[in-house]
Amino acid sequence: MRKVAKVAVVAGSLVVGCLTAGSVVARDAGASDEQALAPTRHGPSRSIEQRVDRLLARMTTQEKLQQVQLLSDGQITDADAKAGVGGVFSLTDPAKIDHYQRIAMTQSRLHIPILFAYDTIHGYRTIFPVPLGAASSFDPDVARTDAQIGARESATVGIKQIYSPMVDVSHDPRWGRIVEGNGEDPYLGSVMAAARVKGAQGNDYSRPDRAVTSVKHFVGYGEPEGGRDYGTTDMSEQRLRNLYLPPFKAAIEAGADTVMCSFNAINGVPGCANRYTETEILKKEWGFDGFIESDYTAVAETRVCPPKTPDEGSCGHGTAADGPEAGANALMAGTDSEMVSTYLRDYGKQLLADGRISRKRLDDAVRRILRVKFRAGLFENPYVDQAKATDPASFLTPADRRAARTAAARSMVLLQNKGRTLPLDPAKKTAVIGPLADNQHDLLGAWWGRGEDADAVSVLKGITDGSSATTTYAQGCALSNEEPPDYDPADDCPSDAGFAKAVAAANDADQVVLALGETREMSGEAASRSRIDLPGRQQELIDAIAATGKPFVVVLFNGRPLTLSEVVGSAPAVLEAWFPGVEGGNAVADVVFGKVNPGGKLPVSFPQRLGQVPIYYNHEPTGRPCDVTQKYTSRYRDLRSCDPLFPFGFGLSYTSFTVSDLTLSKTTVSRRGSVVASVKVTNTGSVAGDDVAQVYLRDPVASISQPVRRLRGFERVTLRPGQSTTVRFTLDASDFGFYDNRGRFVVEPGTIQVYAGDDSTATLSRTFRVTR
Ligand code: NOJ
Repeated sequence: MRKVAKVAVVAGSLVVGCLTAGSVVARDAGASDEQALAPTRHGPSRSIEQRVDRLLARMTTQEKLQQVQLLSDGQITDADAKAGVGGVFSLTDPAKIDHYQRIAMTQSRLHIPILFAYDTIHGYRTIFPVPLGAASSFDPDVARTDAQIGARESATVGIKQIYSPMVDVSHDPRWGRIVEGNGEDPYLGSVMAAARVKGAQGNDYSRPDRAVTSVKHFVGYGEPEGGRDYGTTDMSEQRLRNLYLPPFKAAIEAGADTVMCSFNAINGVPGCANRYTETEILKKEWGFDGFIESDYTAVAETRVCPPKTPDEGSCGHGTAADGPEAGANALMAGTDSEMVSTYLRDYGKQLLADGRISRKRLDDAVRRILRVKFRAGLFENPYVDQAKATDPASFLTPADRRAARTAAARSMVLLQNKGRTLPLDPAKKTAVIGPLADNQHDLLGAWWGRGEDADAVSVLKGITDGSSATTTYAQGCALSNEEPPDYDPADDCPSDAGFAKAVAAANDADQVVLALGETREMSGEAASRSRIDLPGRQQELIDAIAATGKPFVVVLFNGRPLTLSEVVGSAPAVLEAWFPGVEGGNAVADVVFGKVNPGGKLPVSFPQRLGQVPIYYNHEPTGRPCDVTQKYTSRYRDLRSCDPLFPFGFGLSYTSFTVSDLTLSKTTVSRRGSVVASVKVTNTGSVAGDDVAQVYLRDPVASISQPVRRLRGFERVTLRPGQSTTVRFTLDASDFGFYDNRGRFVVEPGTIQVYAGDDSTATLSRTFRVTR
């Protein structure tokens, strides 16, 4: 991303505070005394605010308590709609949506429309690559297009709120939900988050093809202990602000009007009962005037489980004695809407009478919800156009499919290509082998919305269609799509009984595409893994194919970084395809046959071994940096390397590139100024291709230890053979400053190192000085 517009944004919102010993303190606008400077993203619309006020003034307490209630598709009844319930999620049948909306609009006393929501994460019907894949494109247009099409398809059935983007930074590949986010980097995550918000909302989400986004999960949900979903997290203030909050802030600045608070607790405080993050940071510092909904039963989960009956509903964190207290804590912390549990609706009157919740806060929550409904145009256009909503031509259009195919191909990362195995020759006989080869189901990945397996193009079909020669197939072995309690890892590629057929198919062909990886059930919510290698005997299948001597590529489908040391040891070519979505098989064929030159880069480090986790490029330094020749250094005794197998930002191409001529527009810059880093990228190979120019910064001497490098700009470029281009990155205080442990954004004078290249190990370097 070229950061051109950013300078102006920073100039407008950065407030320089007091000078401390040797450092300039700058604070983002919005911290209480600077609230007037907080960006109002939509500009307060007077007419909307007046309509909200008028409506609020007419509401009874019980009507307000209904507005803060969010019910699931399985919970909603006619009576709820008549009583004026605030929101419903997961309902996708347009007739039902319309049914409840008509009740709300005609039979409820105040005719307040219901806001219908859905998890359109990487597509509604037109399923795009999983977000971790889209992040690999290093191309915000991939995310933007996905969100735009997803919002349009959702809005067509009456869904005006999508529970996306998921922007949780994570360093833990065991965690199944790493698939839903943008990987380990806050800067890449911020760019992608903003792109998704803009894609879904446009400039005005009241339009019939738009929906309001809900950025989630606020906040710190990406680092549960041990990678176990929903687990607790403990983090310093500087980590919270430097690593985990930035993508949320970017999404809010891009216009996201709703936020979902997280299941987990940070520093002992559950996400949906966290006054500091919800009210102090999000609402006060950042000036967020939309609403926060809880995650699914997350309010209920803050209460203690009754002794000996741990299965009595949702419970656990133990920061509330019972349900009503859980509701009160959540509301008073800043949660505006309660998902699934109904404590505020059921006990709100009593809580008000007891003074445990305030009228002011309840009004504020309702005001926020109404504001979003007005902005969404729901009062003017509450109903679904049934003809359009039930017309198959409204979904998965040929143009949408083409966009999904482009997105999938742009998201693929070439990890290895020994002896130029790829691209394969489409005129040669290809054997397509593996559990994910003749497979539509898994290609959609976790959170497939209303995507249907039958819509998906399998690898076998894609390769068959993309080749002018014969294509053959052998499964080799199968993976299990069962869910707990029926799922048994021993059922994943459990035997080599099918290997002989696979080997025969390989022997009989000129080349092999080996489709391996995880099932779509292995990542996503509640899908953490204790090992991150290829499940079952898939490695043995690779070895068996390797023994044939035929050229082959392992195409990987997975929702997390895997440990691939053995795979890259035995396969000449490895292509990371993630879960590529509905056009997956075609996109694989495009890349494998060289119609598309892969240009994706890893948005997350791939460890050599699970024991290295967490391993990420922007770690902080230590007094004893890893040196495998020295004992007393920060290393593993049983590893002969300090590095991940593949670093962040890494990805190969069918051509080669050089990144050179790093220059800075100046060598001294004031804390309010900016410097332009320019770098030349040249295609030195013989085919056209994409590279991603990346610029990293390091502040080597600071008041608190700074990461060894941090991505602060990237640009994906397409170059013909021999062609060069110069990419420019504007760097300013937002790039060379950082948050300290008091939550202040500081810009300290001193040297800043700039690194440029096409992955996070870039060595090209220059320095500039930041002056007072
Ligand atoms: C739970 C998940 O954590 C969240 O991401 C999702 O939006 C809600 N369920 C609603 O489906």
